[in-house]
Amino acid sequence: MIIAMGSDHAGYEDPPPHYKPALIEYVKSKGIEVLDVGCYGPDAVDYPEIANLVSEAILSGKAELGILLCGTGIGVSITANRHPGIRASVCTTPEMARLTREHNHSNILCLGRRIVALEDCYAIIDAWINEPYSQADRHVRRVTKMG
Ligand code: RB5
Repeated sequence: MIIAMGSDHAGYEDPPPHYKPALIEYVKSKGIEVLDVGCYGPDAVDYPEIANLVSEAILSGKAELGILLCGTGIGVSITANRHPGIRASVCTTPEMARLTREHNHSNILCLGRRIVALEDCYAIIDAWINEPYSQADRHVRRVTKMG
């Protein structure tokens, strides 16, 4: 599996450890290939550019899933969800992450550097990656209705 990952400058916000490289290493440690779309340092970058790159990577088939990071997770999620076929979810707990995979068939996880502790991000990522899409009729029907 390939996961596209990206963040704005919040991913390199002090104090260290910087979330962007830490989360990439964490995902790689699970044996998952990462497509890193940037950014690559603390210089300010507009979060929609990064959210668009991760969304396009999924829609073009370059990656199966995506993980986005910004200050809150909200800006990247709003942007990603403007792409038909993207179901981006801001999660602050592992249970949200599990349920959004099971019920909403989430294909992008959005995390907030200024909201969620790094260790909690790891737990959220684990829950999100490991939960399959439910094939129960009601969930499939509802996801289909999203368009
Ligand atoms: C950047 O300061 C901040 O606005 C951005 O990371 C994000 O939180 C937006 O939703």
